[in-house]
Amino acid sequence: MSLGDTGLTVPLAQGARYFNYYWLRDNCPSSFNPETRERSFDIFHLEAAPRARAAHLEADTLVIDWDGEEHVTRMPVAWLETYAEGGRRPDPADLPRKAWFGDHYPDVARFTHAQLISDKVARQAWLEAMLVEGISVVGEMPDTDAALTELVQLMGQVRPTFFGLYFDVRTHINPTNTAYTASALELHTDTPAEEHAPGVQFLHMRANSVEGGRNLFGDGVAAANDFRALDPEGFRLLAETDIPFYCEHDSYDMRSYQRIIELDQHGEVAGLTISQHMLDLVDLPQELLDRWYPAFCRFGRLLQDDKYVMRFTLNAGECIVFDNHRIVHGRAAYTAESGDRYLRGTYADRAEMRSTYRALVCEGRFKA
Ligand SMILES: [Fe+2]
Repeated sequence: MSLGDTGLTVPLAQGARYFNYYWLRDNCPSSFNPETRERSFDIFHLEAAPRARAAHLEADTLVIDWDGEEHVTRMPVAWLETYAEGGRRPDPADLPRKAWFGDHYPDVARFTHAQLISDKVARQAWLEAMLVEGISVVGEMPDTDAALTELVQLMGQVRPTFFGLYFDVRTHINPTNTAYTASALELHTDTPAEEHAPGVQFLHMRANSVEGGRNLFGDGVAAANDFRALDPEGFRLLAETDIPFYCEHDSYDMRSYQRIIELDQHGEVAGLTISQHMLDLVDLPQELLDRWYPAFCRFGRLLQDDKYVMRFTLNAGECIVFDNHRIVHGRAAYTAESGDRYLRGTYADRAEMRSTYRALVCEGRFKA
């Protein structure tokens, strides 16, 4: 143990490590109110810069006697070991993603509405599937608006977009009409024009008796990882260049800049923001477009390859839940002679989903 002017050095299992006095004083266990679980200590009003008068190890605790203050800190050595290297606090929700491909449909994580409501273990498995694979199907949904809200609230709050809290997609096809053609929806992520596009999308199929109109889903992580290996320079351009998206009509003009390929804090592909129908006029220097556009098109074509796209029909009573920053979705063109199609959708926030998951799987810092 050696005491310096600005901090002290402690022998730990991983070797001797330096800790700053402000950090040690601010994070003294007594600085936190166990009831509110918030920091109640006010470091702005210390008389002088904190400095240890003496310090020693007592079993698994570092004991610090502070200079110029009637205060003794007893800090668990486990905390010191956690923070010694200056990395981020370990996060149980930071699970490695598992890329999936076009043949994934039989293996998509499935739950029922009743199971998720009544069973905490199923809820944990559901959120884990969302973090790792980014997609799940919830079956046996009651045919009500409330059922969707209940499902969302198992992970967080309903998260509005600038169109509101929920959206309804209805197609009533009158069999006496001439054949109705619904055009294809290209693979996309939703509302890229928002500054923070919603993190988790829910699509509750309430009625689906039309023929055709199969749902398409693909894992942006799988496609982007392959693109990284096939075309490293194209990958870099899509992961580092801010691109404008828009959504504009009479009373709104939403705009934002996003990156087509999104990376996480480890440099791994976290997902995508992509939508041809909401891509604004790309305002990059024209010479840069000589490289950007070919990369964008190469990646867009790769994403549509059968290798990545699951095609299936979402049945009435099913709700598909997916990561809107990772999973691209679309719909095949369909010509239907008869039937109804009614889909009700909404969103939740990924940070809230991670928060709920952490609270389910770990004790946190304050639980005894
Ligand atoms: Fe969509």
